Amino acid sequence: MAKNYRIAVIPGDGTGPEVIAEGMKVINAASKKFGFKIKFTSYDWGGTRYLREGSIMPEDGSEILKKYDAIYLGAIGRPDVPPGILEKGILLKLRFELDQYINLRPVKLFPGVESPLANKKPEDIDYVVVRENSGDVYTGMGGVAMKGTPNETATQVMTYTRAQVDRCLKFAFEMARKRHSKKKPWRGLSAEDIAAGKTAQLTLCGKSNVLTYVFDMWNRALNEMAPKYPEVKINYSHVDAITMWMVKNPEWFDVIVTTNMFGDIITDLAAMTTGGMGIAAGGNLNPEGISMFEPIGGSAPKYTGKNVINPLAAILSGAMMLDYLGEKKAAAAIEKSVAYLTEHKLKSLSAGKMGYSTTQVGDLVAKNL
Ligand code: IPM
Ligand code: MN
Repeated sequence: MAKNYRIAVIPGDGTGPEVIAEGMKVINAASKKFGFKIKFTSYDWGGTRYLREGSIMPEDGSEILKKYDAIYLGAIGRPDVPPGILEKGILLKLRFELDQYINLRPVKLFPGVESPLANKKPEDIDYVVVRENSGDVYTGMGGVAMKGTPNETATQVMTYTRAQVDRCLKFAFEMARKRHSKKKPWRGLSAEDIAAGKTAQLTLCGKSNVLTYVFDMWNRALNEMAPKYPEVKINYSHVDAITMWMVKNPEWFDVIVTTNMFGDIITDLAAMTTGGMGIAAGGNLNPEGISMFEPIGGSAPKYTGKNVINPLAAILSGAMMLDYLGEKKAAAAIEKSVAYLTEHKLKSLSAGKMGYSTTQVGDLVAKNL
């Protein structure tokens, strides 16, 4: 029997609705081709609703979303709303309330895309960042004292529990194993690693020389879990150093696991090495619950309503969603269709410079499935 999926859609602000429309177009085309059913239900939550009604989303919004198989989100953010309100009021709220504790961000250079890194080819930039998505400074622990005086003191605390660390590392180890389950060794491994039976690689990115308590815990957890995954070679890199290697030697990486804030920062850098926000997809995952798929980029107010924004990041996030739901063939076909476009059609990934409009890009991906 054909599977039937129910998806909650939050197009959001700015160019969010434009890119999500193309994503839904492509998913609908894939559903016809690969024989599954999909029903989208849209919610107008976000900054525009906030300015109109004074509330970003209903109080029980997370409960409403729990009835769906997945959530597909465009972008949240408006220049006329002060920073923090919308981010905390919907994006972070949903990530926390639905306990989407993994933020999975693939870093993949598509064929035909010119990386700002000289001489790097698609085979050189192909890794994933597993960003922990439930802890760190994002929990909002902290406070302010003596506000408005010269002694004003503000804190915002990096917090991690061992349970948060363990569940994130488990996901990252499984991801490394899955990416090389066919025993094709990751090329970043040395001859010695391969002789020792390693096929996959996992790099923990931290700052153990300064954040000694937090990364002592992460490193111990990593080393304690490693024997369960004998085929996975583990590495550690400081966050400042990893930004150098991501630029100089991206081919070293296969799976990078890191904390919430470091993951936020390094995935913008990573996205840039693959052609920018136009193509950077992501998923906020709760492997035991409901997950939310969204392009990494923002609401791009400057390009709103012009039919020039690149919808590929949203389309690829849609493919991630299908993959996650179990529609592996459909997801792979969308990725392939995107790769065909980047290699043979698009002049650039930047808004207004693609050589095609937003809707035309969606049409092309759908047509070439
Ligand atoms: C991201 C964004 C968010 C984050 C902001 C909008 C709160 O930058 O998804 O990377 O920091 O996680
Ligand atoms: Mn970010």
